[in-house]
Amino acid sequence: MSLIRTDQDHLIHPVHSAADQTDPVIFTEGHGAVLRDASGKEYLDGLACLWNVHVGHGRKELAAAAAEQMGRLAYATAYAGYTNEPAIRLAERLLQRAYSNLSGVYFTTGGAEANETAFKTARYYWRRHGMPGKTKIIARHHAYHGLTMAAMSATGISAFHRMFQPLVPGFIHITPSYPYRHPGPMADALEDVIRREGADTVAAFIAEPVIGAGGVIVPAPDYFPAIREICDRHQVLFIADEIITGFGRTGHWFALDHWGVRPDAVTFAKGVTSAYLPLGGVMVSREIHRSIQEAPAAERFMHAATYSGHPTCCAVGLANLDILEREGLVERAGALGQRLLSRLAGLRDLPSVGDVRGLGLMAGVELVEDKQTKAPAVGLGGRVLTEARKRGLITRMRAGQTGDHPIGDTICLAPPLVTTEAQIDRIVEILREAIVAA
Ligand SMILES: Cc1ncc(COP(=O)(O)O)c(C=O)c1O
Repeated sequence: MSLIRTDQDHLIHPVHSAADQTDPVIFTEGHGAVLRDASGKEYLDGLACLWNVHVGHGRKELAAAAAEQMGRLAYATAYAGYTNEPAIRLAERLLQRAYSNLSGVYFTTGGAEANETAFKTARYYWRRHGMPGKTKIIARHHAYHGLTMAAMSATGISAFHRMFQPLVPGFIHITPSYPYRHPGPMADALEDVIRREGADTVAAFIAEPVIGAGGVIVPAPDYFPAIREICDRHQVLFIADEIITGFGRTGHWFALDHWGVRPDAVTFAKGVTSAYLPLGGVMVSREIHRSIQEAPAAERFMHAATYSGHPTCCAVGLANLDILEREGLVERAGALGQRLLSRLAGLRDLPSVGDVRGLGLMAGVELVEDKQTKAPAVGLGGRVLTEARKRGLITRMRAGQTGDHPIGDTICLAPPLVTTEAQIDRIVEILREAIVAA
């Protein structure tokens, strides 16, 4: 097909490897939790594309919201001195849904840029408070925070670092709470590293409430309350990366609500527009917000991007929130997630399934060589994905690794929040067949 040939000749893809591009799927249409390709074949969208199409594919209402806004004012600068109605209204709506201690919103066009903004904001905050030495960021092994320079440096998966070293200095990784492999309390790792580095050098700790692309790792229930307490004790800001977990994915609007914890800043993207247009951002606490609002001119928040507060992206965000609220999709994610997890638990009888875990409508199936030793399966997951795709299920995995921070290939599932019960059951059936075949 000439289109594929042109793709092979010219298009550089995210995580590009030419070998992956010999037989690419050309997506042409989507409806609900189903994607169709150029040959007419249909697939269940097991990961809501990239964990982001919360309200499902084919929502004309979101297209209409974009068209309406574009027809009136597609874009205008939101640099200081200028503003627009969709950005104002979306900021207000987001704060109504997020943790009650938050009061300021800065918009970006995606997740990595949101995390970059959060890191810079943490440094800014401490500098405004006369503590310019607090610059380091503590992140976690297995974390995924995006792939721009600082976000990549926070990301704790070495495969993303290998060909792009060195990392930005001042990013430190600790072992996360990962009950399958580290049953003990893990929050102490944060306190140890703050003590070692010196609290006067640490700006912030960043964590995904549930590690997503790193293998859907759900923490022990006492982990985040302990983290909050340690951050408070050492004056370290706690940034929650809710780029996957936000907007209902786990059955709450934002996931730290599962444990009654409030972060100092939240980064978001993906589900804020259900991916219909690119949008992300960071919400900050009243204290951080005040440090920006009350800054003298010489200490102005000199962070910016052309598309911050993009009116059309924000208009789509507003329409997307309308759908999530009207259709009760946050609660639905919780209920569907229980169904998904209970069906997936049935896969534990397979010899290569080491762990099945999840929270709300995000789940991971970790593959091992040996259930007793938990020796990671590395390579098997790729064959499982190929077999699943043949059978009409598309999803992704965390590639496994041995060594200091072992993890087996982990098949990730996070379908749209509108997936039907029958489709959930079918996803699990296909996955079972695919694991057996692989
Ligand atoms: C938790 C998390 N943080 C950050 C990012 C980066 O977002 P983006 O790809 O929009 O830069 C992602 C993307 O998958 C993510 O899952």
